[in-house]
Amino acid sequence: MKYVLGIDLGTSGTKTVLFDREGRAQASALVEYPMYQPHNGWAEQDPQDWYQAAVSTIKQVLQKSGVDPRDVVSLGISGQMHGLVMLDEQGQVLRRSIIWCDQRTQKECDEIHERVGRERLIQITANPALTGFTLSKLLWVRNHEPEIYARCAHILLPKDYVRFMLTGDYATEVSDASGMQMLDVPNRCWSKELLQILDIDESLLAKVYESPEVTGHISDEAAQLTGLSTATLVVGGAGDNAAAAVGTGVVEDGTAFTTIGTSGVVFAHTSQLAIDPKGRVHTFCCAVPGAWHVMGVTQGAGLSLKWFRDQFCGAEKNAANQMGVDPYDLLNKEAALSPIGANKLLYAPYLMGERTPHLDADCRGMFFGLSAMHTRRDLLRAVMEGVTYSLADCLGVLHEMGVDPAEMLACGGGGRSPLWRQMLADVFGCPVATTVNTEGPALGVAILAGVGAGLYTSVPEACHAMIHKNPAQDPIPEDQEKYRKFYDVYRQLYPANKQVFKALAAAE
Ligand code: XUL
Repeated sequence: MKYVLGIDLGTSGTKTVLFDREGRAQASALVEYPMYQPHNGWAEQDPQDWYQAAVSTIKQVLQKSGVDPRDVVSLGISGQMHGLVMLDEQGQVLRRSIIWCDQRTQKECDEIHERVGRERLIQITANPALTGFTLSKLLWVRNHEPEIYARCAHILLPKDYVRFMLTGDYATEVSDASGMQMLDVPNRCWSKELLQILDIDESLLAKVYESPEVTGHISDEAAQLTGLSTATLVVGGAGDNAAAAVGTGVVEDGTAFTTIGTSGVVFAHTSQLAIDPKGRVHTFCCAVPGAWHVMGVTQGAGLSLKWFRDQFCGAEKNAANQMGVDPYDLLNKEAALSPIGANKLLYAPYLMGERTPHLDADCRGMFFGLSAMHTRRDLLRAVMEGVTYSLADCLGVLHEMGVDPAEMLACGGGGRSPLWRQMLADVFGCPVATTVNTEGPALGVAILAGVGAGLYTSVPEACHAMIHKNPAQDPIPEDQEKYRKFYDVYRQLYPANKQVFKALAAAE
């Protein structure tokens, strides 16, 4: 029997799942780690935490499953995108990673637009300069920590750092590399023109592969630490959203998914390059060789609910612990007791600024319309509705680009909530389904690993055979009408506060 391993390096933790070749999970393990926020709008993580979590979860799944490591033919890693990992000549980490939701780099984005030209930048990288992307983070280190920049010999993305530690190879792949903003996205290779204009040495960057290609195998040292065999192949893998696409079977035109993880994403596959001229949604290479995807991003989706849970729901967390249930299940029950519109309370999920559609590093979250009659359950419901409205903004931009999926798949932690899925169905106005296997990104990269090792002939073929859908939840017409009124008010919140956010950001 042959097995494939999927490692999903997320923002709140790393989850590793061992699958058989039919995509059935044999064992899984999760290790969580912290996110450091030294200043408002900054976000960093320690690459060592990611690697330790990968080692520990691999060891755990091998032990739990009892599978002979020699039967694990290949593995893939899915990763939170955009994080900047800087290594010296010896491969030692030079500083904590500045991760995707960090917002400190607006000045560097302005510098990139000035030097490259916004239009040319979009032609090359398919996106405008964004605070979330790796390039502006790299320039920030060059501008603010020149001694670290001078010692830097290699730049890697989070999952590619874990690959490096497991294999010794400096490698990346097109889907995640698209989010570094140094890749020529139409041509799937580093842009020499851009690197030259910005005076960045190409030798800092890793070799680029397609997502299912084999990049190496497990090293002796990593084999000893993890229990894996040195014969286990490692494939390119994918950025978390491209990986989730494979794991939900979104690998052909007309298919789309919404994920509610720490971030929220509305993602559609496209076999033709499609770019939003206003840059409100990202166009990246996808994990299917030769194809792309467009996606809108809500910075603080699951993060909003996690933040609310951690700050205000200690009682529910304790009760859930004692009952042996997931605290989010209790929060969902509580939110369902508040009516649509949360008794006239709105929430904007801009805890870490916002990408789609506002592209604004300075905006921040807010509750709007608080009244003395509101209870915690209204606040909870408002958080879930606000995230849903923000995702509807993402879908709206895709609609403007002519992408109009007939059905939406839901995944990520939030996608497991029937209440949240019904909100999505009602606000999006289309049926929302889930896949039978809920491992999303971990399954996606395990499929890529299987393709790389020759277990399947292509990514779409493997998806057709392995991914099955559950019946969809349909929009409820009378509820759609109710949500529409609140969504209309929600859409006025950002424009009305745009300047006020700037004033707050400038205040000392
Ligand atoms: C995508 C993005 C996030 C991260 C973290 O552009 O920044 O989805 O990948 O999940």
